Amino acid sequence: MNLFQAPTGTRDVLAPESARVEALIGTFAVLARRANYGLILSPMFEDAGVFRRGVGEASELVTKEMYEFEDRGGRLLALRPEGTASVVRAYIQHRPQPPFKAWYATPAFRYERPQAGRYRQHHQLGVEAIGSADPDLDVEVIALLADYLHAVGLQAITLRLNSMGDDECRPAYVARLEQFLEAHASELCAEHQENWKRNPLRVLDCKRVECLALRPQMPRLSEQRCGPCEAHFARVREGLDALGIAYELDDFLVRGLDYYTRTTFEFGSDALQAAQNAVGGGGRYDKLVGALGGPETPGIGFATGIERVLLALEAEGKATMDEGPVEVFVVDLTGGAEARDLTIALRREGFVAERSFDQRSMKAQMRQADRAGAWVALIVGEAELASGEITARVLRGEQAHQQVSLARPELTDGLRQLLGKARG
Ligand code: HAM
Repeated sequence: MNLFQAPTGTRDVLAPESARVEALIGTFAVLARRANYGLILSPMFEDAGVFRRGVGEASELVTKEMYEFEDRGGRLLALRPEGTASVVRAYIQHRPQPPFKAWYATPAFRYERPQAGRYRQHHQLGVEAIGSADPDLDVEVIALLADYLHAVGLQAITLRLNSMGDDECRPAYVARLEQFLEAHASELCAEHQENWKRNPLRVLDCKRVECLALRPQMPRLSEQRCGPCEAHFARVREGLDALGIAYELDDFLVRGLDYYTRTTFEFGSDALQAAQNAVGGGGRYDKLVGALGGPETPGIGFATGIERVLLALEAEGKATMDEGPVEVFVVDLTGGAEARDLTIALRREGFVAERSFDQRSMKAQMRQADRAGAWVALIVGEAELASGEITARVLRGEQAHQQVSLARPELTDGLRQLLGKARG
């Protein structure tokens, strides 16, 4: 047993698995950039009020899952459980020109019961677009998430879409829902019998059998959305239809954060178990800037979980690891100076190059080259030093064991050709 281990619900990700994380972040960055979202970096902890007010005092995220602590100066801080409230806080603080379009890659901390796909530190990629209420922005944001999930290789995904209404139509709906829940309180699941009053909307997406059984009878917001919310939602659906993005309307998609107004959406992986199948989700939060002390400003965004996407890819059988990331392994039998100079020169030429240290035997160096998954070994012995030619041996693929001598002036060209052939 080690003296220390990563805390419960967290994990270390090392290469080669981390190469897949790198690829997800890279893909996301390119797509976000194309849509003119700029990277935002903001602190991993905030005044706890940012999330209490932002995400909602009554939300489980705040009451049960937030890592809150007092710092040495007596300030009540919280590790970020999500990114949106932080970005909105930064928007209010810096007042960039709207529409402010930002993307982020961030860890998020939630004290949850750890299980497959649910961690106490997970990693999110997300965007926020603040300053426009145009429903076409909703379409842009949803399309960006759809394109990302598609680009990384996910196919079995379902988009669920809902509109949560606004200050005009939601209060009347919540009142009707409360009446219903009051009348049926004894039929709710044990937890909601206790606390449905705290946040009645949460009962809508409760997955326990008792609450599920009541769903067909529950009042639906779609029956009483106001005209402007209905028009907004119609334009969002029209946009998704025009782009060929399939979706299911779901009156029971509420999501766990209380800041949503109007459009909400979630992509689920059909290959994962229902409880943890959300690979990304988001929605509008037209009241959030105001709630955090800024001028009333609409906004919309989403976040997608890196771990969830990796699990979904694996479940779809698309867990392609980047095999053999090392292209060239320099095996030096002359003391190490050749390996030192050659690897650095090759890297400057754009090759992924590696070597071994500590002047090991040829056998040990070749074993290390194999383990690194290198395509080609460049072998420098005394004879090569004297002749000025270097032996290049293919280590993998159909050309494995093929060997050529490369004169130094032609080294990089020869190597490129050899790698091309080796990789097929
Ligand atoms: P969220 O749905 O709470 O939304 O989280 C976004 C994504 O993070 C989820 O769809 C899921 O893939 C992943 N995720 C959440 N919790 C965990 C966990 N414990 N372990 C592993 N993965 C997890 C938000 O956080 C909102 N801020 C999204 C948003 C942005 N809404 C508007 N703008």
